[in-house]
Amino acid sequence: PASTPPADAAQASPSPLETPRREVVFSGMQPSGGFHIGNYLGAVRDWVALQDQHRCFYCVVDLHALTQPYEPAAMRARVLDMAVELLACGIDPQKSTLFVQSQVPEHAELSWILSTVAPYGELSRMTQFKEKGERAEYVNCGLFTYPVLMAADILLYKATRVPVGEDQIQHLELTREIVRRWNGRYGEPALFAEPLPLHRSPLRIMGLDGKQKMSKSLGNYVAISDEPDAIRKKIGSAFTDELRLRKKDPGHPESCYVCGLEQYFMPSDKVAELQDGCRTARIGCVDSKRALAEAMITTLQPIAERKRQLLAQPGLVEDILQAGADEARKIAKQTMAEVRERLGLLPLR
Ligand code: AMP
Ligand code: TRP
Repeated sequence: PASTPPADAAQASPSPLETPRREVVFSGMQPSGGFHIGNYLGAVRDWVALQDQHRCFYCVVDLHALTQPYEPAAMRARVLDMAVELLACGIDPQKSTLFVQSQVPEHAELSWILSTVAPYGELSRMTQFKEKGERAEYVNCGLFTYPVLMAADILLYKATRVPVGEDQIQHLELTREIVRRWNGRYGEPALFAEPLPLHRSPLRIMGLDGKQKMSKSLGNYVAISDEPDAIRKKIGSAFTDELRLRKKDPGHPESCYVCGLEQYFMPSDKVAELQDGCRTARIGCVDSKRALAEAMITTLQPIAERKRQLLAQPGLVEDILQAGADEARKIAKQTMAEVRERLGLLPLR
């Protein structure tokens, strides 16, 4: 949790994610290009921590990404970039199955089947659908059935735990509803269990402006692959304590953006020292920013190094993804055979 800051964010294992049993975990992320530190601290770090205890499936959900306007020529690079960064952040293909959604065609197949038990009314009440629908030039059906494809992702592997951010909780609830309806219609014994969310520490990393959530589209982020000088520059211009006009004014670390980030990149004694210095005006905002930037660079440096190593071996990431898809597909096919049987469809031979 945020209150017990990790010395090294890359090795943090947030305790709310710990459950005593070994579960099947599934999570997905849209290929949106490089990660920023919000994605890293708020999601990827947890995925990495979960691998040691659970059977994890991590999926780059490119089919979901088709619901937004995009450039086909850029899609492959987006998918590969995300895979490289996940691997660089510590997703280990020896421990987890890392794969691309569209390389396991059963996702689309199960999605159709689940759409025949998914409640139309509830789908139309999904917040994300309403928000994206309002903004879209025209509303494609994929935007509407988006949560059904998510349900298929999860249920193909009979996952029981799903690490998701707050905005996806509603979609997970819908998966649970789909499971209940499916089991009501085709059950006994139930083929699917209702998956539970894995609540991570409710982390919301704010952007460099200190006002809005860090996000790609707002341009208020530090990317995990930013060069050291870019990080120094970005942190140098980050929002600080508005009430502290001169260096000799006492600072307010609790309302300072820069001080707030320190806990994720430094050991707690260092954070305490810096914040005490700020409060007593022994150090200025510029000093705090420098310390934060250097700590961030130190934390991100091994990730950048792993990324360089991965990119230096042409075809490696594609091979890892293919092996992941092969592994995932074995399970997906088995589930689909069971699904076909329950539905009364002819089997595949
Ligand atoms: P997105 O890029 O918005 O699809 O997010 C991918 C993952 O990163 C999701 O699990 C989000 O919950 C998480 N995430 C994105 N932005 C932030 C942020 N500013 N703070 C914490 N977590 C975030
Ligand atoms: N919709 C999720 C998001 O935008 C990504 C996702 C797709 C997902 N399938 C999933 C997350 C299954 C958890 C489980 O963040």
